[in-house]
Amino acid sequence: MKSTTVHLHSEFQIGKVDERIFGGFLEHLGRAVYQGVYDPENPQADEDGLREDLRQVLARLKMPVMRYPGGNFASGYHWQDGVGPREDRPMLRDLTWNSLEPNAFGTDEFIKLCRKLHWDPMLTVNLGTGSPEEARNWVEYCNCPSGTRYSDLRTANGSAEPYGVKLWCLGNEMDGEWQLGHIPAPQYAIRAQQAAKMMKDTDPSIELIVCGSSNITMPSYLEWDRVVLEYCGDAVDYLSAHRYAQPAGDDTEDFLAITNSIDRQIEELDTVCHFVQTRRRSNRRVSICMDEWNVWYKDMDGNGQGKFAPHLLEEVFNLEDTLVVAGFLNSFLRHADVVKMANLAQIVNVAAPVQTADQGILIQSIFYVLEMVSKRRNGVSLRTSVCGPTYTGKTNGTVTYIDATAILDCQRLSVFLINRSSAEPSEVVVSLADMCITAMENGELLTGPEAKAANSWDEPAIIKAVDMTEVAVSDGRARLKLPPLSFAAVTLRIE
Ligand code: AHR
Repeated sequence: MKSTTVHLHSEFQIGKVDERIFGGFLEHLGRAVYQGVYDPENPQADEDGLREDLRQVLARLKMPVMRYPGGNFASGYHWQDGVGPREDRPMLRDLTWNSLEPNAFGTDEFIKLCRKLHWDPMLTVNLGTGSPEEARNWVEYCNCPSGTRYSDLRTANGSAEPYGVKLWCLGNEMDGEWQLGHIPAPQYAIRAQQAAKMMKDTDPSIELIVCGSSNITMPSYLEWDRVVLEYCGDAVDYLSAHRYAQPAGDDTEDFLAITNSIDRQIEELDTVCHFVQTRRRSNRRVSICMDEWNVWYKDMDGNGQGKFAPHLLEEVFNLEDTLVVAGFLNSFLRHADVVKMANLAQIVNVAAPVQTADQGILIQSIFYVLEMVSKRRNGVSLRTSVCGPTYTGKTNGTVTYIDATAILDCQRLSVFLINRSSAEPSEVVVSLADMCITAMENGELLTGPEAKAANSWDEPAIIKAVDMTEVAVSDGRARLKLPPLSFAAVTLRIE
């Protein structure tokens, strides 16, 4: 059996884990909103159309932030279509997903949903077909005390109290020719700067996320980011990055080595942030916000054929996908000083941890990984030195079979371990150089029968987290055994 030692030191800290890296993303796309979070006809729906069974499941993920209404959808969305009396809201053709959009769910409904699930709202303004002024008006609608045109409109729509929306994205994937209103970097930078100025003039307390490169294969990757940051870096707080992981072939271990490439993407973008900061002699630190991330490569058809709530992008996640999701979280923890926010794309039905049907809710396997890490997220991320066998994947280079991260929270240490080997179990020893591990507090393990195994409506519990009891603590160290293709989250007592 392979053996790996994870060496840690309580003073070797990367940074505090920002709980915002456990955010989510909800887009008007397919069945994410309609038949997802808003389904008033469902017998379980409350007075706001939210199914009680869905509310209970989503609440378990404790997502601190929710991005809305897109995504690509945002670039054709005019927020005023989605407020006011429902009977006056227009039925529209959404060009992005070629779907029907009745606007029954809009800003006010989204804010109510956020309140119920304790999400901080994060709104994406339309910088494709919309204007900086329209974006600024939305800030007034949401955040200003009544007494002016748009804040009075909010009051008339039922909320005298401002919503206090702190997080605003300056458009979405504006580097992509698929984006409605796509423009080259210099023009986008001007538009974003104009919007940023007017939005912050309206509410100086807001935080802004500017569009970075939509993916690492864009010809303008990094150059787009440099141009945008040089022009409007002083006006924004975060650079947006997106990443959807896809395997290069049918080689599971190669796919699981994709953490190398995710790490590299984060480091490359951070390098651009530092470069621009240094060149401008600015002290301003722009952090990375990976406001769309997930595994997504099977259900790629985004054409809704002109229908309402079509089944689009309903990705079914298997075990290897689930371990890649764990790898994303490990990458974020490894860069806790750089990645200050991240949003899983998405939360329900569309490439999501949860699917809905009239008869109930299906929990996909990625849900458990998110929950396992999220419930142990308080603390600082520690540097890990992982000493153990390695392999070299065809596309993603050399990695250790065991991927490891750790969070220190006073007398508690949580470790997150992925065994990437598809064939062999591995022994893992966890050692803190300056402290003793004294006991195991709790632990969970996720694995499955084979790499392509997935939960389904017929067999909903093929992959799930189970309690992990077999962790031996002796000589101040912890020892555990990880089956092939597995993920463990273990919390230990230390002194
Ligand atoms: O999440 C689906 C789509 O993927 C989003 O709308 C877009 O931003 C990205 O390309």
